[in-house]
Amino acid sequence: MTREFKRVGVVGLGTMGAGIVEVFARQGLQVVAVDRDEEAVTRGRGHLQTSTGRAVARGKLTEQDAATLVDRVSFNTELKAMADVDLVVEAVPENLDLKRSIFAALDEICPPETILATNTSSLSVTEIAVATGRPGKVVGLHFFNPAPVMKLVEIVRSVVTEPDVVADIEAFAAALGKTDVTIGDRAGFIANALLFGYLNHAAAMYESHYASREDIDASMKLGCGLPMGPLALLDLIGLDTAYEILDTMYKQSRDRLHAPTPIFKQMITAGLLGRKTGRGFYSYE
Ligand code: CAA
Repeated sequence: MTREFKRVGVVGLGTMGAGIVEVFARQGLQVVAVDRDEEAVTRGRGHLQTSTGRAVARGKLTEQDAATLVDRVSFNTELKAMADVDLVVEAVPENLDLKRSIFAALDEICPPETILATNTSSLSVTEIAVATGRPGKVVGLHFFNPAPVMKLVEIVRSVVTEPDVVADIEAFAAALGKTDVTIGDRAGFIANALLFGYLNHAAAMYESHYASREDIDASMKLGCGLPMGPLALLDLIGLDTAYEILDTMYKQSRDRLHAPTPIFKQMITAGLLGRKTGRGFYSYE
């Protein structure tokens, strides 16, 4: 018998966290959504309202269903709100110390049976797990951006994750309507390990003035049938997140494919993070 998750928590309400909240609420789950302050919580709530509003405008959701969906989510600024959830998914920025401190705090707050999952894209699930007293109940649950749309989740088991926990999370992913792949704990897992060398190469090609951003994107979109070009995709992911993923993979493998091309740091310093700041390789104002 696999375990049923009724009340779930999400920590961190940035692009990924807010999208994960929406995935859960759409599935009828009660969601406790936590971020560190009112400003972050307001941003997360706004993200959910914009996304459900778009679904209403497209006739995919009635006004009433959208309101019911939003009502399933309780927003909070205190981790203590996670005291009675069955599962927590952490989706804060890719900083190992930050994630470890949140997992240590969740371990104190949540009941012993609660599964603690991280949405990390590239950090070590094992290093996060050992910050808790329940490493067997810690797992990676990696969604893709935009979380409500992308069908895949990567489930990451460390050498100490309990097999029952993996089975329960696999069943949960299927109940969410996602296709899951289960892998061991290696930076980038499957999809990012394959994707980010390509994205890095595209940014370097743009940086060298070899081709315009439009031509690079058109080539991959129209020539290779991808839903969007690499520079538009980097703007969607966020250049800060992309840099962190590349840097972590590079430090682990020392493969030059993943050495972040310098334009990432320059654009991040200038505040050009992509869609979330209104400008990246393209402008969104
Ligand atoms: N949140 C919720 N729903 C969204 C959304 C968002 N941010 N963006 C788009 N959608 C929905 C739309 O509402 C629409 O839904 P319906 O079909 O039900 O009406 C659907 O997605 C299609 O949207 P659009 O018609 O506006 O645009 P599109 O057809 O061009 O699709 C896209 C947009 C889904 C983003 C598509 O371009 C795409 O699949 N791009 C590639 C995305 C990708 O590769 N993601 C992985 C990034 S790597 C990653 O995430 C890993 C990591 O660790 C960082």
